Amino acid sequence: MNYLIGVDIGTSGTKTVLFDDKGNSIASHLVEYPMYQPKIGWAEQDPEDWWQATYSSIKAVVEKSGVSPSDVKGIGLSGQMHGLVLLDKDDKVLRRSIIWCDQRTTAEADQLTELIGRERLIEITGNPALTGFTAAKILWVKNNEPELFEKAEKILLPKDYVRLRLTGEFATEVSDASGMQLMDIKNRCWSDEVLDKLGIPKSKLGKMYESCEVTGGLTNEAAELTGLNPGTIVVGGAGDQAAGAVGNGIVKPGIISSTIGTSGVVFAHMENIEIDKGGRVHTLCHAIPGKWHVMGVTQGAGLSLKWFRDNFCHAEMDAADGLGVDPYYLMDQQAEKVEAGCEGLIYLPYMMGERSPILDPNAKGIFFGLSAKHTKYDMLRAVMEGVAYSLKDCYDVIRAMGIDASEVRASGGGGKSKLWRQMQADMYNCPINTINASEGPALGVALLAGVGAGIYNSVPEACEITISVKDTTDPIAENAEIYNKYFDVYRGVYAGVKDQFKKIAEIQAE
Ligand code: XUL
Repeated sequence: MNYLIGVDIGTSGTKTVLFDDKGNSIASHLVEYPMYQPKIGWAEQDPEDWWQATYSSIKAVVEKSGVSPSDVKGIGLSGQMHGLVLLDKDDKVLRRSIIWCDQRTTAEADQLTELIGRERLIEITGNPALTGFTAAKILWVKNNEPELFEKAEKILLPKDYVRLRLTGEFATEVSDASGMQLMDIKNRCWSDEVLDKLGIPKSKLGKMYESCEVTGGLTNEAAELTGLNPGTIVVGGAGDQAAGAVGNGIVKPGIISSTIGTSGVVFAHMENIEIDKGGRVHTLCHAIPGKWHVMGVTQGAGLSLKWFRDNFCHAEMDAADGLGVDPYYLMDQQAEKVEAGCEGLIYLPYMMGERSPILDPNAKGIFFGLSAKHTKYDMLRAVMEGVAYSLKDCYDVIRAMGIDASEVRASGGGGKSKLWRQMQADMYNCPINTINASEGPALGVALLAGVGAGIYNSVPEACEITISVKDTTDPIAENAEIYNKYFDVYRGVYAGVKDQFKKIAEIQAE
């Protein structure tokens, strides 16, 4: 039997899964690590944590599964996107990584627009200047820590740092690299024009591969640490969203995914490149050679519910502990008792600023419409509905680009909640499916490794063999009507207060 390993280097931890070549999960292991928030809106992680979590979790799945290392045919890496890792000439990490949800780069995003021009930037990179993307983070280091910028010899994304440690190869792949905002995404290569204008030598960036291509093999040292054989292949892999899309079978037109993890993402495959002229959703390279994808991203999706749990649901957490169940399961039961629409209580999930479609790093979370009648559980349901409204906001832009959706697949931790799936079905007014596999990004990159190892002929073929629809949630017409009315209010609330968010940001910058 052939086996494949998918490593998902996420924000809360790294999850490694060993699969057989039918896509069955044989063993999995999670190692968690911290996120540092030295100031409001800042978010950093230590690349050493990702590396230790990767090799120790690979070792754990090899041991747990009892699979012979020679039957492991390949490894795929999925990574949290956009994070900036800087290495010196000896490959030593120069500073903690500034990660995807960090919002410190408003000035640098403006600088990027000035240097390249908004329209030209969208035309080349598929996106307007975004505070979360890597280019603005590089400019921030250049402007604020010039001595580190001077010392930087390699600029990498999180999973590509791990690849360097596993294989010794300085490489990246198209799906994650297109989130650096340094690529000509139409031609799937680094953009000389963008690099020249930003003063970034191409030699500081890794060699570009397609996601299913082999980028190298395990070094002797990495083999020792992981318990695998030296030379075991590592393919390009993918940014976590493209990886998750492959793991959900979003590899052909007509199927859209709606994923709730820390962030929330609505994702569609594209045969030909299409870019929203307003740059409200991201167009990036897909993890399939010669294909692209479009996605809308809500920064604070699962993050909002986790925040609510940690601050207001200690009783549920204690009860869950006693019952041996997940606290989110008990929270769902409470939220289910509240009427759809929460009697006019609306939550905006902009706790980490927001990307699609409002593109506003200054935006903040809001509970709107609170009355003395509302309880903690109304607020809980409002958080879940607010996240679903924000996904609908992205879904509507994607549909308006002419992208077909005959099927929506729910995934991520939030996709496990029946209530959250129902809300999405009601808001999109479209059936929501779940699939047989729940390992999303880890499965996606394991399948890419299978293509690189020659086990499957193509990425769509790998998905065809391993992925099937498990169950369907149909919309409830009555709820759809309620949500439709409140969705207008949801959008209106932000429009009404966005100038005040800007004022808050100015006051805080004083
Ligand atoms: C995608 C994005 C997040 C991160 C972390 O653009 O920023 O999905 O990759 O999961």
